Amino acid sequence: MDMKRRLLMLTIVVLISTPGFSQSQQYFPDPDPVIAERLEEWQDLKFGLLMHWGPYSQWGIVESWSICPEDLSWASGGRKGGVADSYFDYVKQYEDLQTTFNPIHFDPERWAAAASEAGMKYVVFTTKHHDGFCMFDSKHTDYKITSPNTPFSTNERSNVTAEIFKAFRAEGFWTGAYFSKPDWHSEYYWWPHFPPSDRNVNYSVDKHPQRWHQFVEYTHNQIDELMNDYGRVDILWLDGGWVQPKTEAELREEMLIEYEGSRYVRNPQNQDVNMSEIVRKAREKQPGLLVVDRAVPGIHQNYLTPEQHIPDEGLPYPWETCMTMANSWSYTPNDVYKSPDDLIEKLVDIVSKGGNFLLNIGPGPNGNLDPQAYDRLEKIGQWMKVNGEAIYATRSWKSFSQGDNIRFTRTKDGKAWYAFLFDYPEQPLVIEDRDGRTIQTVTLLSNNRKLKFRERGEGLDVILPARMKESGEHVWVLKIE
Ligand code: GLC
Repeated sequence: MDMKRRLLMLTIVVLISTPGFSQSQQYFPDPDPVIAERLEEWQDLKFGLLMHWGPYSQWGIVESWSICPEDLSWASGGRKGGVADSYFDYVKQYEDLQTTFNPIHFDPERWAAAASEAGMKYVVFTTKHHDGFCMFDSKHTDYKITSPNTPFSTNERSNVTAEIFKAFRAEGFWTGAYFSKPDWHSEYYWWPHFPPSDRNVNYSVDKHPQRWHQFVEYTHNQIDELMNDYGRVDILWLDGGWVQPKTEAELREEMLIEYEGSRYVRNPQNQDVNMSEIVRKAREKQPGLLVVDRAVPGIHQNYLTPEQHIPDEGLPYPWETCMTMANSWSYTPNDVYKSPDDLIEKLVDIVSKGGNFLLNIGPGPNGNLDPQAYDRLEKIGQWMKVNGEAIYATRSWKSFSQGDNIRFTRTKDGKAWYAFLFDYPEQPLVIEDRDGRTIQTVTLLSNNRKLKFRERGEGLDVILPARMKESGEHVWVLKIE
């Protein structure tokens, strides 16, 4: 690519107008054609597994956030009851969870097999969440699963990140490392000299640049480890978007925020971890690595990641909805799982809009997944086995939907398109727009039967067998050629 084109691509800025996205969410394509190619391939995968797992799973509470001193429902409001009244006692006990973490039922092959059965194609695992606990064998801290302080360290599979990547790779998965940039255990991030005040670094970066520099080094070292010692990694999924360079004006603006009707003071800072250098080094080891510097506008956010929601319309760049299969990211007892039908509809909705679906399960303290999670994976898999061709490697059709109950995709070459029916429609099924095509066949994927149809006006009438309605299946797919 010549310089001019690079510049042009760099300056393409796509503003997201979807509700739920803040104005600052913009897409800047990485000018490297290798990354563009890799993104194309990633967009073919459609369906991935996200896992939040750590010592916090023993308490069955929110991941990390309960030690964040912010008066928010999921932060201080998410603390485990009966542990300690005082914040510092609470944190002490939280960190002591390391000394009892012993997930003896850890069986990543079983997870990988179930995810593969479900039709998932990539995995993203929390190697380190905001609490700083490393689920990999970092040489730069003792706050990790392989430390002698953690009982599981004596298990031969204690380096769970390595084991998980290996198991999923063996099923043909792409692997992704979730890594939190903020680290609430590191003395270079929350310096014990001061109490933490909120999610941000707790000292003045301006005044203590040396300490911040040590944090940057710590971060680089750990990402280096993940890129060097864990085999092929396809995605570096960086969370904690408040760790980013900020201008004076931005800082001023973010000091006072309003959230759910209340006002909060925050201590935002210019938290520059030198992402360009991180990415340069990472790609030296992992050519074509996709980097997702979440919620940080710039070329290191190779795709965007709407969280717990599906955009109302297709978005003109690569994106992925991350969403929990139950209500929480981490394991919590008696969590309420979404129904298989609901999950399938969400997958279809996302894919019709050109996105990928990263579905999260939180493993329990012993390393088990909830039986309901296995049940959902199995049922999604049954559906995918029959209808997967309408999902994988497809692209958005002319319009992603017709009303609330019909979605569309098309093959990449555009020769065939697919209609997904969330409900059994009135007879005949009227598809309003056939894009000026002459239709040869309409096939019901669930039994490969050719259906009767008639071109009418701009559209198409299809006669659906009445039996279909009684079959009890959900989300029927028609292939239209
Ligand atoms: C939210 C949560 C965070 C979680 C992330 C996953 O940002 O606060 O804990 O890791 O979602 O997308």
